[in-house]
Amino acid sequence: MVIHPTEILDPTSFSIERAAQLLVQGRLVSFPTETVYGLGADATNESAVKAIYAAKGRPSFNPLIAHVSSVEMAKDYVEWSKAADVLASAFWPGPLTLVLPLKPNNAIAPTVTAGLDTLAIRLPAHPLAQQVLEHAGRPIAAPSANPSGRISPTTAEHVFDGLNGKVDVILDGGPCAVGLESTIVGLAPTATVLRPGSITESDLETILGYPMTHYKDGSHISAPGQMLSHYAPNAEVRLNASTFSQDELTLGFGAMECDLNLSEGGDLDEAARNLFSMLRQLDKNGQGTIAVAPIPNHGIGVAINDRLKRAAAPKD
Ligand code: TXA
Ligand code: MG
Repeated sequence: MVIHPTEILDPTSFSIERAAQLLVQGRLVSFPTETVYGLGADATNESAVKAIYAAKGRPSFNPLIAHVSSVEMAKDYVEWSKAADVLASAFWPGPLTLVLPLKPNNAIAPTVTAGLDTLAIRLPAHPLAQQVLEHAGRPIAAPSANPSGRISPTTAEHVFDGLNGKVDVILDGGPCAVGLESTIVGLAPTATVLRPGSITESDLETILGYPMTHYKDGSHISAPGQMLSHYAPNAEVRLNASTFSQDELTLGFGAMECDLNLSEGGDLDEAARNLFSMLRQLDKNGQGTIAVAPIPNHGIGVAINDRLKRAAAPKD
């Protein structure tokens, strides 16, 4: 357990090297990815991985994503398949996580997968993440760097606000380019979207050349951590608000009067980039109701609406 204040480091070759060394020593390091900031630990070190769960207050049944620096490294740990190859060739490095069967006798700490026989794995595109992973030379388990159930961090300051004293260092790479967590695709056995993200179902189907499978609710355990309440501000959240009332904190989309606007020009990528940061700003006082304008449900809008639905869900 870390007991000293967390340091925020500018991204120099020295600090990247230091971050990688800390990871190898079993410590916790937060680093930027193109999606959100991750809270990293050596995925082959059981006590380091346990420290992630402790720092986040994360339920032990919610498995972690292992981050790798190459496809070759991924193949050391999971049963690679044709579909994995096709998707990784198209989208890696990038905001796509693949869930694949674990290889027997792999070196992944059992807590990473929360006892499942599959591993979620991703090769991020952010240059700082890649350099840390290359220097560490091993898979790094990294959930989003926020206390469990809260809003994911898209800046180093967000990480500090939630986890000061619980992580050794934060590498500051500025704001994340995508702003929403990776698309998760299950491939064990058929291709199915477990969490929507900036890579959409139709992007995936175009590359795969066949439709994704849709499981009916309850017929399949999908992403075990996809709890309904997540990404939650302290304030109440009211969705699809076609009008705003005076006492509400208001989050707009497109040209309209509001406190903060996800994208005045109605650009969904810009809205995704702003979502978590604006929810945090409106939640500064932790009370009242945040009313959110309707967001078109296509492209990355599907992922924005998924996160908003969880932000608005009852907290117990
Ligand atoms: O963009 C991202 O994916 C970020 C950055 C840091 O890479 N990470 C991230 O991790 O969002 P986290 O822990 O916040 O979300 C991981 C999700 C959880 O919903 C978890 O349940 C699911 O991935 N997951 C992990 N392993 C899984 C598995 N073997 N099968 C199904 N779902 C899995
Ligand atoms: Mg998360």
